[in-house]
Amino acid sequence: MMKRKLYIETYGCQMNFADSDVLAAILAPRYGRTDDYKQADLILMNTCSIRDHAEQRVLNRLREFAAMKKRRAGLYIGIVGCMAERMKEELLEEALKVDLVVGPDAYRSLPALLDRLEAEGEKGLDVELSKEETYHDIIPLRAAENKVSAFVSIMRGCQNFCTYCVVPYTRGVERSRPADSIVDEARRLFEAGYREVTLLGQNVNSYRYNDTSFARLMAAVAEVNPLLRVRFATSHPKDLSDGLLEVMAAYPNICRAIHLPVQSGSTSMLKRMNRKYTREHYLQRVEAIRRFLPDASLSTDIIAGFCGETEAEHQETLSLMREVGYDSAFMFKYSDRPGTFAHRHYQDDIPEEEKTRRLNEIIALQNELSLACNRKYIGRTVEVLVEGVSEKRGRQYIGRNTQNKVVLFEPTEAVVKPGDYVQVRVTRCSAVTLLGELA
Ligand code: 5AD
Ligand code: SF4
Repeated sequence: MMKRKLYIETYGCQMNFADSDVLAAILAPRYGRTDDYKQADLILMNTCSIRDHAEQRVLNRLREFAAMKKRRAGLYIGIVGCMAERMKEELLEEALKVDLVVGPDAYRSLPALLDRLEAEGEKGLDVELSKEETYHDIIPLRAAENKVSAFVSIMRGCQNFCTYCVVPYTRGVERSRPADSIVDEARRLFEAGYREVTLLGQNVNSYRYNDTSFARLMAAVAEVNPLLRVRFATSHPKDLSDGLLEVMAAYPNICRAIHLPVQSGSTSMLKRMNRKYTREHYLQRVEAIRRFLPDASLSTDIIAGFCGETEAEHQETLSLMREVGYDSAFMFKYSDRPGTFAHRHYQDDIPEEEKTRRLNEIIALQNELSLACNRKYIGRTVEVLVEGVSEKRGRQYIGRNTQNKVVLFEPTEAVVKPGDYVQVRVTRCSAVTLLGELA
């Protein structure tokens, strides 16, 4: 019998993309993965709840799949990930045409739920959160076309309870994956030709498995091979330690790029957000980064228009951005999320137009800062890990330097292939890319 086909559509963070490969592995005995949803016997939407907009996108797309299901008997639709966890049985409402709702910690029950669905037509729901599940023994079936760079999940969940954030409710308590299984996976990836791993967690700095801290884990992964680049995401400013920065400085293959979400530049806002640090503490961490890793790039996340944000507090965010000089940033309007502390105790009182105005100011400033950062690379030669060929503007090679900047360069007679390290002299730049030629 031909294996049935599974189509997974992934929304949200890198963790979700990593989880989709775990889902593919769990279902591999019965389903082969396809990237054409029209061919699928089972469609899984791996969903995100971080902002209302993310959920609306999923619900719109779900309507398309539901319409398709009316024409195709035997097509099953499942919602997995954060929306499954947040909305639970609400998603099994008849009109939505969903057959399965499975939360981030319950993926191992999918085969059993599918058995019952196929045999008895019984819809499946499992949104149990776990204190232990890390899927450490499951080798993700990676679908990514890019065979150079891979995500490796090292921990799950979050218990920081930032007042705006839904993640602690959708992904449960923090737990770390056994260190040896992480190092094994990195080694296997290197042997399969991968040259970069990004260690993933909601707050990687608080990774701990028995005696292994995050700094120790980073060192162990970096030891796999000097040709394996190691990155990580995401850090929390409250526990980015000097110990970690020291380890980073000691290993040239640990990348010089730190993503350090600040959310706001105002200490009073940070307090309302329950971020557990002040503006001064954050700036002192940035100073430590500059001291240990003078050439590191710095990126961040910023929320505009959180509950009660005054104009003066907004200005503090702009001034902090200037003071740090971020290389890049993810910038968002605050979106009220049911279930969070802010939803229960604060007023979402900044009018939409005002949120938009503040966000636009933040974005405009960041564009200036990004361009200024990138200009510093002009005339310098950088090491690029080649990821592939970009067809956007003619044929150009595409890769990234250790600071995680996208670098484009023209092909020459030299044979260059994905996974190679090459030296590129930067000649031009935009706010988002560096352009250059093989040195
Ligand atoms: N509204 C807007 N942005 C949010 N983020 C998290 N929760 C919300 C929310 N309710 C942003 C934060 C976080 C990033 C992943 O998403 O900046 O760092
Ligand atoms: Fe979205 Fe957060 Fe869930 Fe990732 S963990 S999918 S960002 S809600």
